[in-house]
Amino acid sequence: MLEKFSKWKGNRSNHTTPSHSLDESAIPKHVAIIMDGNGRWAKKKGLPRIAGHREGMKVINKIVRKAIDLKIEVLSLYAFSTENWKRPRTEVDYLLKLPERFLKLELPNLMEENVQVRIMGGLDTLPEHTAKAVTKAMEETKDNTGLILNFALNYGSRYELVEAMKQVAKEVETGTLSSDAITEDVISRHLMTADLRDPDLLIRTSGEIRLSNFMLWQLAYSEFWFTDVLWPDFTEHHLTEAIAVYQKRARRYGGV
Ligand code: IPE
Ligand code: IPE
Ligand code: MG
Repeated sequence: MLEKFSKWKGNRSNHTTPSHSLDESAIPKHVAIIMDGNGRWAKKKGLPRIAGHREGMKVINKIVRKAIDLKIEVLSLYAFSTENWKRPRTEVDYLLKLPERFLKLELPNLMEENVQVRIMGGLDTLPEHTAKAVTKAMEETKDNTGLILNFALNYGSRYELVEAMKQVAKEVETGTLSSDAITEDVISRHLMTADLRDPDLLIRTSGEIRLSNFMLWQLAYSEFWFTDVLWPDFTEHHLTEAIAVYQKRARRYGGV
């Protein structure tokens, strides 16, 4: 009870921006989130790290609902990086079970909410059960026209760039593309975000101030918002607060 109260108090005192105070005409169209801090959340509570991941999964729902309410067009969520394979086998196994679990619970609701699920990352090296679950979700929701929920799963930006370079090189080799015709747009179209606009706003939780190999190309001119809040404690109010801060920024793109 005491703990619940202090948590409520903490959220309330630090994050009071109500959604209605946002400028509805300046909502970021693409929001990307590095969902970090599950392990530390669990540790603080004396629980195993996987308990943090389980709790973190529950937060995704709330944030997706809020993103729909706010009419965000694309929500990219960093779920598992190409570097996360370095973690203990049991933790990796657990993390790679979560997409399946999440989709089993949520796919019908996502369908109902007209959400289009996408995955960016190396599907071929994921366990079969994970790849199958996410492929099914992408397939079932591909014609939905609402929020694009883009999970970065087994994703690394450098990996993505290497794959893009290989494809471009192949096109040059076979003569379908001349090297002089390689432009920023050509590179963008070979990334896993090919038809998505760049993120307007990047959020990272847990107090780490780094990108950890997330969307390096796409974030070139995005606004960044960092918070000490651990991902399992992240709420729709924090999302609103991040957007309120975003709306006060002047995006100049190198101009004046
Ligand atoms: C984020 O939480 C989830 C993933 C990276 C998969 P972490 O597991 O990184 O939690 P911390 O950073 O160790 O607290
Ligand atoms: C980034 O978090 C990856 C995800 C959130 C999936 P990490 O916890 O893996 O990043 P580092 O190791 O602190 O940079
Ligand atoms: Mg982490």
